[in-house]
Amino acid sequence: MSDLYERALELDAADPLAGHRAAFALDEETVYLDGNSLGALPAHVPARMADVIGREWGQLRIRSWDESGWWTAPERIGDRIAPLAGAAAGQIVVGDSTSVNVFKAVVAATRLAGEGRDEILVDASTFPTDGYIAESAARMTGHRIVALDPADIPAAANERTALALVNHVDYRTGRLHDLPGTTAALHAAGALAVWDLCHSVGALPVGLDEHGVDLAVGCTYKYLNGGPGSPAFLYVAERHQDRFDSPLPGWTSHADPFGMDSGYRPAGGAVRGRVGTPDILSMLALEAALDVWDGVTVDAVRAKSLALTDLFLECVRAYVPEGRVTPITPERHAERGSQVGLACADAAAVMPELIRRGVVGDLRPGLLRFGFTPLYVGFADTERAARVLADVLAETPAS
Ligand SMILES: Cc1ncc(COP(=O)(O)O)c(C=O)c1O
Repeated sequence: MSDLYERALELDAADPLAGHRAAFALDEETVYLDGNSLGALPAHVPARMADVIGREWGQLRIRSWDESGWWTAPERIGDRIAPLAGAAAGQIVVGDSTSVNVFKAVVAATRLAGEGRDEILVDASTFPTDGYIAESAARMTGHRIVALDPADIPAAANERTALALVNHVDYRTGRLHDLPGTTAALHAAGALAVWDLCHSVGALPVGLDEHGVDLAVGCTYKYLNGGPGSPAFLYVAERHQDRFDSPLPGWTSHADPFGMDSGYRPAGGAVRGRVGTPDILSMLALEAALDVWDGVTVDAVRAKSLALTDLFLECVRAYVPEGRVTPITPERHAERGSQVGLACADAAAVMPELIRRGVVGDLRPGLLRFGFTPLYVGFADTERAARVLADVLAETPAS
């Protein structure tokens, strides 16, 4: 038994979150390190969905919009997500994809910023959809895109800046960007801060209210385990809600949606971020999935996440043949999200073999990506993943 394996067993034995793994439908043979792409299935969700489909839809049918709480699900589930993102109730609404919510947030932020501010700063390393949509929103609203390293955004913000759209954690490198400092610098320049939380919500403390974030978006199928294509969310800080002018003012965000007015009159609060009929099946699967957070604090998740990624990086250094992989994830805790990216020239050959041997990560061009979801990944799993990676690399000729 290696020292690192023994240490992993000790860490598992002392892990306060170890018991939560049983809440997920996972087999013992697989080390699932892809929860930063698609979270695992919470074990109780299928029974809840059988009830939603069989009884709420099958028997109650149209009555379920009221009697089963379907109509209010977007804001009700938003309030379940709120504590995980450090937001008070009434500011998050669930629905649509992250991409659509990026569009709403960017256009609405240009309207909140007002006249005379013609620049939108974007994170140059952003997940592509954010960049595509910000560019289109800029063309529609007569703004100019300035793409920057997120670390340079605070110094670049000026009197022409309407907003910055920034990823809290970089999807490739796992780098955690400075949300409090960047938000404060944007505000000092009179601009708004719009954050993409896809890779941070459910993995680490976000502190939306504490840090005065203006608008934020995030997905729910990664660390929130909502299921494939589960709806995303939009946060609009309470102080902006009265002036939040959605570019997609659909009927479900109307003050009186069943009045069928020809003129638009926005509802108050988070509801104003809604667009059309909510995708109830996905939404209720997400709502059920959020039960796994009962009794769990984000701080405990963060502490374990850092311990897991520390151990993984240490095992990779100890086991993997010299020169075959290069970690691109920051060593410093303050700069690290909940995933580890390893640059690897042979990534395309290595990942399928890793998956065949029960270690499931994912592949991006030239990159092996491993996500650590503290609610169901353990320390022995983490040591095993690095050991299997070392075996696979030792057997795969370097290209
Ligand atoms: C950081 C980030 N933003 C946006 C998206 C796109 O989300 P959606 O497909 O829900 O529009 C993703 C998807 O993985 C992402 O990782």
